[in-house]
Amino acid sequence: MNKSDILNLLLLPDPEPLYQEADYCRKQNMGDDVYLRGIIEFSNICVKDCHYCGIRSSNTDVKPYRIPDNEIIETCQKMVVWGYTSVVLQSGEDPFYTTEKLTHLIKTIKATTPLAITLSVGERNEATYRAWKEAGMDRYLLRFETSNPKLFQESHPDDDLTNRLECLEILRRMGVQVGSGFLIGLPNETLEQLAEDILFCTQLDLDMIGIGPFIAHPNTPFSSQSNPFSPDIFYKTIAILRLINPRAHIPATTAFDAIDPKGRNRVLQRGANVFMPNATPMAYREHYQLYPGKPCISESSDDCAGCVKGRLKRLGRTIGNDAGHSLKNPLR
Ligand code: 5AD
Ligand code: FES
Repeated sequence: MNKSDILNLLLLPDPEPLYQEADYCRKQNMGDDVYLRGIIEFSNICVKDCHYCGIRSSNTDVKPYRIPDNEIIETCQKMVVWGYTSVVLQSGEDPFYTTEKLTHLIKTIKATTPLAITLSVGERNEATYRAWKEAGMDRYLLRFETSNPKLFQESHPDDDLTNRLECLEILRRMGVQVGSGFLIGLPNETLEQLAEDILFCTQLDLDMIGIGPFIAHPNTPFSSQSNPFSPDIFYKTIAILRLINPRAHIPATTAFDAIDPKGRNRVLQRGANVFMPNATPMAYREHYQLYPGKPCISESSDDCAGCVKGRLKRLGRTIGNDAGHSLKNPLR
């Protein structure tokens, strides 16, 4: 598909045939298994100041927290009981977590559980990523957010798109499975730009593609900006990504449940094959609100484990019982 094909699909008046095609493509290439990757948001402290994000450094309304290692490890052990096969460790860009600290945490999780480990802690240097890989890190998540340098600059006052892409390249060369993606509907984004972002994911040959709608957070510079697109555009984006990346892992990301309580279910029926249940211990959840309306804030990790099983069952989907590593490039 080229850019104009994608634009035509984004403009389709009736999206149902596109959704059905994407669901069929998912079934043929990825099967009915949904991989459960429990996410622990282990620190909400961030040195960066992204204009859209609720835990940006300038938002002083956020109560800072760091989850002690033993609590993270206990949670990982519970994940095994819940049937999750991967843990995603996510945080703000928090310099407290040195190379050594996270190396130690990765090794401990690897020594005490069979979980695959994904890290999502922002931009670091090559030596750090290498140390984590050697400690057992399997995957890394780092969204490029937008492939347009100007839009990137307008929403990331202290960041640089080139550096972020360089991080993704370093990780890929190292043999780490790479997940990236973008925000759908940043302020001033056009449908053409959205088509470019979709194509850019394929160009990066990602193992996992994670995207979600931009949702304005009240304590940010983008508080009064609304998303230029409708929910249909969000779901069409998922469907198109599936069709042009048939073997990539695509998660039904949490932000879809913020725009519609059935959002993540719909995404699973329109191309996605991964679910990332919130596994952050309950006491911390309310302090990791990147956007308003985030679901599962007053639920426990146990609640989410039960909820996700019910959802998948009702959708006629099964739970993947292996780690769900990349199918795109098995050598990686
Ligand atoms: N709306 C939607 N998604 C957001 N993220 C951060 N802030 C927002 C927001 N206001 C997303 C970013 C980031 C991921 C962890 O959360 O895309 O990469
Ligand atoms: Fe958390 Fe449904 S996934 S309550």
